[in-house]
Amino acid sequence: MPEVSVRGRKLAFEVKPETFDRGALAVVCIHGTAGDREDWRFQLDGLSGRFTVIALELPGHGASDPPDEPTVPEFAQAVEVFVETLGLQRVVLVGCSLGSAITQWLALSPKPWLVGIGLVGAGARLRVHPALREGVLQDKDTAVDLFADFALGASPDPALRQLVREKFLHSSAELIYRDLTACNDFDVMERVGQVSLPTCIIVGEEDKLTPPKYAQFLHKAIAGSSLTTIPGAGHLVMVEKPAEFNASLSAFLGSLDRARTPRA
Ligand code: COA
Repeated sequence: MPEVSVRGRKLAFEVKPETFDRGALAVVCIHGTAGDREDWRFQLDGLSGRFTVIALELPGHGASDPPDEPTVPEFAQAVEVFVETLGLQRVVLVGCSLGSAITQWLALSPKPWLVGIGLVGAGARLRVHPALREGVLQDKDTAVDLFADFALGASPDPALRQLVREKFLHSSAELIYRDLTACNDFDVMERVGQVSLPTCIIVGEEDKLTPPKYAQFLHKAIAGSSLTTIPGAGHLVMVEKPAEFNASLSAFLGSLDRARTPRA
């Protein structure tokens, strides 16, 4: 798996296609709590025919080295340095959950390379229920079961629920706690209206961690944003309903590409 070095620390990622034009539109996907590049498998496979798709592993996740401070601003800085180190010139950041916080953080102080954002299972504030955050340190098995229930829609595919459960079980309680603390400390409710980039918001209709109410708040606050609510999915909508998710994201990315193509 490719990696870049950011201040002497390794950041791992997957990119499809493997050879790509640094000036073309690139989608950089940022996972949520205890996530890794596998969270974007359907986007890596499904969207890379039209766009460069990159799934970054945040510091401390997957094969990436640990961060100094596992906070949203620190993660955001790592993403910024990652994009600049790769030399990407036109990036759409797409973040889920904790990744959506990082994406909002970066969008609030725009970069020349950032041309749009996708907010998935997102909120401008991400308070975390104590049964999850403190719970994971007290009784990890119970908290992991709660996660598996909260992360997916009302009638999840049992195999997918098992996958989510195993992923959390294989993550350390400390890592989950730190990620959830980063979420819990995040609050840009008063400022998110200053985002002036093209924005697409996607939420599962049955999202229990960041309910559609949060997405509606973002949609109202961010001028010109689009909102897609996908039925039959929860927080991990990009994994639960990949076809519907990819159709929505692809339409948004296509609109950004068309907006740049000069008319004949
Ligand atoms: N967008 C829009 N509205 C939001 C919001 C957001 N991002 N975050 C909170 N709110 C709203 C709430 O819906 C609530 O509205 P209400 O008073 O009309 O019911 C109000 O702001 C206050 O909510 P909150 O800041 O969350 O505090 P709380 O003390 O009421 O609840 C929790 C705390 C943890 C119980 C609650 O946030 C919760 O159940 N969270 C969802 C589960 C979770 O852990 N998610 C993890 C996200 S990573």
